[in-house]
Amino acid sequence: MNDLIIQTKQLTKIYGEQKSVSNLNLHVRKGRIYGLLGRNGAGKTTTMKMLLGLTKPTEGEISIFGSDIQGAEGKIYPRIGNLIETPGFYPNLTGSENLKILARLRGVPHQNAVKRALEVVGLPYNDKKLLAQYSLGMKQRLGIANAIMHDPELLILDEPINGLDPIGIAEVREFIKRLSVEQGKTILISSHILSEIALLADDIGIIDHGVLLEESSLEMLEKKNSRYVHFIVSSAGQAARILELDFHTSHFHIDDDYSLRLHDTNIDVAAITRKFIESGIDVSEAHTQNDTLEDYFKRVTGGEGIA
Ligand SMILES: Nc1ncnc2c1ncn2[C@@H]1O[C@H](COP(=O)(O)OP(=O)(O)OP(=O)(O)O)[C@@H](O)[C@H]1O
Ligand SMILES: [Mg+2]
Repeated sequence: MNDLIIQTKQLTKIYGEQKSVSNLNLHVRKGRIYGLLGRNGAGKTTTMKMLLGLTKPTEGEISIFGSDIQGAEGKIYPRIGNLIETPGFYPNLTGSENLKILARLRGVPHQNAVKRALEVVGLPYNDKKLLAQYSLGMKQRLGIANAIMHDPELLILDEPINGLDPIGIAEVREFIKRLSVEQGKTILISSHILSEIALLADDIGIIDHGVLLEESSLEMLEKKNSRYVHFIVSSAGQAARILELDFHTSHFHIDDDYSLRLHDTNIDVAAITRKFIESGIDVSEAHTQNDTLEDYFKRVTGGEGIA
């Protein structure tokens, strides 16, 4: 497990009476895009703030790049870029001027760092526009440029697509993907929009009321939530043999002695049911489940719609 860039153990934050983050065991692997998905108030920002040392955990451990963060802050934090809420930019300076100041403060070594970072996020270099005249989306892009300009190995981005229009969202998604694929960066990103995370992340953690309900690769999660036919029969083992021998499929999963899920939905359900019955297997239920990832997210968070 030494490819873990971030690992937390029982990470907990209590504000007053309220447990904002509860016993979180997070695993972010090297070179992956990890999407932390949760509704408003789920605990995403609090988690990221603890990872970045911006707020102190009430309990639990955090290890980043294989070291406990306590006592290793000076080594760890320069290797991370973050976007947590809007950085304190100066309104009466231009975007480039703002970044140049921040680059100097952080001792960013490369002369071209500001120019390169602006290029990545699609903002002009040495443009005359003052920050006070920036739109929300432009500020957000500048915030991301600020996070990446020192070429960090790990990026922690709290809702980076907030305030962006659909084209802006697609662009940000593309450059986040490029940072991962072309430069091998590890990226932890939060969002309350499932469809965005589904388009971007390799791994997903679903957080709700401070609790990590699920942590899995997107691939696994999608597999688990694809279309399938659910059979309740008198013998799942016997039914499985019929599927293999008569219908030449092994795309099924036996839940228990009586329950079987067939993921191969091209096969005629009526024909299967008929064959089961002819073979002496009672079929008490056969229905197609059309769960999408969104249904799943709603189900695990126990709620209705998401934005
Ligand atoms: N400084 C604080 N003092 C007290 N309670 C706080 C503080 N910061 C956060 N909380 C509470 O902790 C919970 C988690 O908040 P957090 O900001 O981490 O959620 P979030 O998932 O980032 O939500 P959003 O999608 O709205 O940004 C909320 O109930 C919030 O009210
Ligand atoms: Mg937040």
